[in-house]
Amino acid sequence: KDANKSVDTRLGEICELLQSNVDHYDWVGFYFKNGDKEELKLGPYAGAPTDHTIIPFGKGICGQVAVSNENFVVPDVAAQDNYIACSITVKAEIVVPLFVNGKNVGQIDIDSNTPDPFTEEDERFLEFINQKVAEIL
Ligand code: SME
Repeated sequence: KDANKSVDTRLGEICELLQSNVDHYDWVGFYFKNGDKEELKLGPYAGAPTDHTIIPFGKGICGQVAVSNENFVVPDVAAQDNYIACSITVKAEIVVPLFVNGKNVGQIDIDSNTPDPFTEEDERFLEFINQKVAEIL
C-alpha cells in the first residue's frame, strides 16, 4: 500500500482498470455527495469527459440512487424517463451506491455502449469494489 498516493489517484486507477479490462464498461466514474448539499459531484472517472459534473438528488439514474440507496440497473436507457444522457453512444447503465458506516456517500456509475449487458454478477462485483473503496475513503 502506497500511503502517499491520494484517494483520488487510487479511485482514478480503479476506474481505468475497470474501463480497460471489462468489455462492457465504457465509462466508469465515481460521484460523491457534495458536502452538505443535496447533490452529487463527479469524482475520478475513466472515459469521455461529461458535462454532468453536478447532479441534483432525484435527477437522472445517479440522482435517484442517491435517494433510494439501492442499485439501479438500466438495460435500455432510452426506456427511462428520468435519465440524463452523457453520450449518444450509451445504451445501458448501472449505478451502485457506496456506503461508509451505513451512510450513502456516493456511487459508482458505469455506462455501456452495449445493450442490456449488466447481470447480477456486475452488481455483486461493484458492491465488492465499493466496500473496498469505503475502506480507503
Ligand atoms: N446517466 C447518468 C448521468 C451521469 S453520466 O452517465 C456520466 C444519469 O442519468 O444519472
